[in-house]
Amino acid sequence: MRSKSVFKCSECGYSNGKWFGKCPECDSWEIEEAEISGKNENALNSKKSILNEQRFQPLTEIILEAEFKYQSAYPEFDRVLGSGLVKGSVSLISGSPGIGKSTLLLQILSSYAELGSVLYVSGEESIYQIRQRSIRLNIHNVNLHVLAETEIELIENAIFILKPKVVIIDSIQTILTDSIGSVSGSTSQIKEACTRFIRIAKTQGIPFLIVGHVTKDGKIAGPKLLEHMVDTVLNFEGESENDYRMIRTTKNRYGATNELAIFEMSESGMNEVKNISEYFLGEREKENQGSVATTTLNGNRVFLLELQTLVSKSVFGLPRRVAQGVDFNKFQLIVAILEKTMKLQLMDKDIFINIPGGLLVKEPAIDLAMAVSIYSSLTGNSIMGSSAFVGEIGLRGEIRKVSYCLKRAIELEKCGFSKIFVPKGNEKELLMQKLSLEVVAVNRLEEVFKNIKFGR
Ligand code: TYD
Ligand code: MG
Repeated sequence: MRSKSVFKCSECGYSNGKWFGKCPECDSWEIEEAEISGKNENALNSKKSILNEQRFQPLTEIILEAEFKYQSAYPEFDRVLGSGLVKGSVSLISGSPGIGKSTLLLQILSSYAELGSVLYVSGEESIYQIRQRSIRLNIHNVNLHVLAETEIELIENAIFILKPKVVIIDSIQTILTDSIGSVSGSTSQIKEACTRFIRIAKTQGIPFLIVGHVTKDGKIAGPKLLEHMVDTVLNFEGESENDYRMIRTTKNRYGATNELAIFEMSESGMNEVKNISEYFLGEREKENQGSVATTTLNGNRVFLLELQTLVSKSVFGLPRRVAQGVDFNKFQLIVAILEKTMKLQLMDKDIFINIPGGLLVKEPAIDLAMAVSIYSSLTGNSIMGSSAFVGEIGLRGEIRKVSYCLKRAIELEKCGFSKIFVPKGNEKELLMQKLSLEVVAVNRLEEVFKNIKFGR
């Protein structure tokens, strides 16, 4: 039979019988030519007998195993995974080099080793380097096995012999198979390796934690498909200048996304930061000009943070606007709303806004805190340190409802706040619960500014 060609985008999988230079779906230039030969038709014919069998079943009749999540010794890590590591799941852990992926995964794997044999596959380091690191981390569990290997077939073989409870692949970009003629790290090699690990995970029920390198712009190196293929994607964020590392869930088939865990890199490995609110608010000077406390929702959890603004007179004609940790467009919008509805004179001012601690918050619930923080710095008055502000601001200066307002109020109360400004639309929800903090429900920005108490 004559074989036909099909052209396929190796990034997103788009295919067409005709040649195309650039993928119309994802703009990638990586196009592969694949053959559809008679072989595929034969395979289809042999499958036809199976196709006649009844292979579907009612969803409700599928019995789940009682205990199907592994817990590690790190509750914060378990939480970002969605309260534990699901059997047969495949998670991708991405982050820039040197951020601590190998360190944290080795620590985590050693705690899974309490359950039985586990396997750490490294394509980057020798077994001696891994042993050296494990000594530094005080890891001496005999169930933890290491394999320095890059070839898929040999890794698969090791998994079939050892039957580990958990496998770590460090990293997917180093794994390759001879059956594909390209070098390791290429799109087709990464895709093949990932597909084969997913197959083992799903058929044997072994969870895989796979390290993925990121490119300069922070994206996972390799095909975009990689993120679609796996069950969970965890991103390692943090700056090399400080010791704090954040792990954020960007995709999770078993739990909430946007969950955040904070770890601290120390002499003896990564330690969990249990109280996130304290971490973001700990160094806040009470009653400081331009400093305002607010809340943010991450996954299922609320924590507190500080917003800081500095307003100063522009030296040049063009006022400067600098935002760190908040959405720049939103920040500009709030400045415009303040000028229009509150008649604040900001046109000739430089404004710098920042969230200390390296957090990036895009949630609209911090709008009100941004506005109050700008107002505080502009007028040179400090806000009472025990007040917090929660609310989204509309274009006409109205304060709009936020989600999980009660949860936010409870977290503020727990951390010793005595007053919270909330949108009127959320008032009912807060009145239903007996709270010790004073609730000021507001409809418009004017009401907020009228009711603010300045400290000192
Ligand atoms: P590593 O886990 O190798 O990073 P990645 O796998 O993401 O590339 O971490 C490397 C850095 O961590 C290195 O700069 C040294 C530091 N480190 C510590 O500070 N404490 C430790 O206990 C260990 C093992 C590493
Ligand atoms: Mg590493």
